[in-house]
Amino acid sequence: MKKTKTAKPRAHGRAAGLRELAEFARAARLQAFAPFSRFKVGAALRTRTGEVVTGCNIESASYGLTMCAERVAVFKAVSEGMRGFDAIAVVVDSPKLAAPCGPCRQILWEFCGDIWVRMENLRGRGVTRRMSELLPMAFDQGNL
Ligand code: THU
Repeated sequence: MKKTKTAKPRAHGRAAGLRELAEFARAARLQAFAPFSRFKVGAALRTRTGEVVTGCNIESASYGLTMCAERVAVFKAVSEGMRGFDAIAVVVDSPKLAAPCGPCRQILWEFCGDIWVRMENLRGRGVTRRMSELLPMAFDQGNL
């Protein structure tokens, strides 16, 4: 196979289709309710069987009640009886890519495990990481 000019090694295996998954997150972002921060986030969570559940951030005038796009996607999926996930995509419109916040990392780890996390912005920048890279030494039910 011809060598292509890539600076960094590409994610492989189950990471296939992450750009397509990010398209769902991009669309979900348009539903964001973010009148306070004006920072809209879209997320798309994929099951191992290929189903996609989306989420967007939903803010409250009582700021601390705001829910991130990632957790909306996880809670929607779990509430529909879905289990067994392999990837989540998160899309923002800022030069700096948005990695899931601390609470979202904990929830993603507990409900999704060591899935792929694809982060993109609207300008086409993107990076892919594993949850275990974002949340090393996680506390979970294995500790209890
Ligand atoms: N936010 C997310 O939805 N996901 C992230 O990964 C980072 C932050 C939201 C929460 C809030 O509505 C806005 O972005 C600014 O923090």
